[in-house]
Amino acid sequence: MAIKYSLPSNIDPARLPRHIAIIMDGNGRWAKQHKMLVAMGHRAGTENLREIIRNCSDIGIEALSLYAFSTENWNRSKTEVDALMQLILDFFASEIDELIQNRVRITILGDKAGLPAPQREALTQAEDRTRHLDGLRLNIAVNYGGRAELVRAAQALARDAAEGRIAPEDIDAAAFENELYTAGIPDVDLMIRTSGEMRLSNFLLWQCSYAEFMFPETLWPDFHVADLHECIYRFQNRERRFGGR
Ligand code: IPE
Ligand code: IPE
Ligand code: MG
Repeated sequence: MAIKYSLPSNIDPARLPRHIAIIMDGNGRWAKQHKMLVAMGHRAGTENLREIIRNCSDIGIEALSLYAFSTENWNRSKTEVDALMQLILDFFASEIDELIQNRVRITILGDKAGLPAPQREALTQAEDRTRHLDGLRLNIAVNYGGRAELVRAAQALARDAAEGRIAPEDIDAAAFENELYTAGIPDVDLMIRTSGEMRLSNFLLWQCSYAEFMFPETLWPDFHVADLHECIYRFQNRERRFGGR
């Protein structure tokens, strides 16, 4: 059995973020720095995933959402898209057993129907095999776009209204949330984007309404547990007001 991660003493276990989201950015720049092909950067960017997920699970984070592939990432070259798709398969093949052992429940955020069959099947299977588990909620965003998610929710509610299952005036934030991929999962408390870029790139638009944002300069393949702890420490030193005084 691997070591169990614990929290450094400067972090208060009673005030952890319930939901952490990460935009794993900087693989391309990492590859360039190391004079490697971009696919190698993406591969390096899966090697730290295990420790980050494991740590979140061990320290008692409720939900971790990882941005793996956006609806806009199809605009990259076929070679790069193919490499990313292969990595998604490799990740689930190598990690699923340990994830299940750690009671991690996997949810895919995004349109699985728009993926090639092998990826669609692997992701669906990962969800099916972990649906009953009660540990960390691990959300992996693949073929995900925040706007597409909101449009999809609006369509579902419009359909319900048109077919008489809900009155338009009964559509509230809770009903809307219920149609998102993250239904039942608390809002994002801490949003981390690595590599110094300061934008959301269409990730979790609804869920980030009151998230605290961190933009570490570290490129994603170089981001390790100590960096995550640093973000959590800084999160605990932010004052969250939610519009109040
Ligand atoms: C993020 O790394 C991973 C994905 C978008 C899949 P990038 O490939 O965007 O890395 P940079 O931004 O080019 O450095
Ligand atoms: C966001 O990163 C998507 C993922 C990390 C999966 P990008 O690198 O694709 O975003 P932009 O193009 O810089 O906004
Ligand atoms: Mg990028």
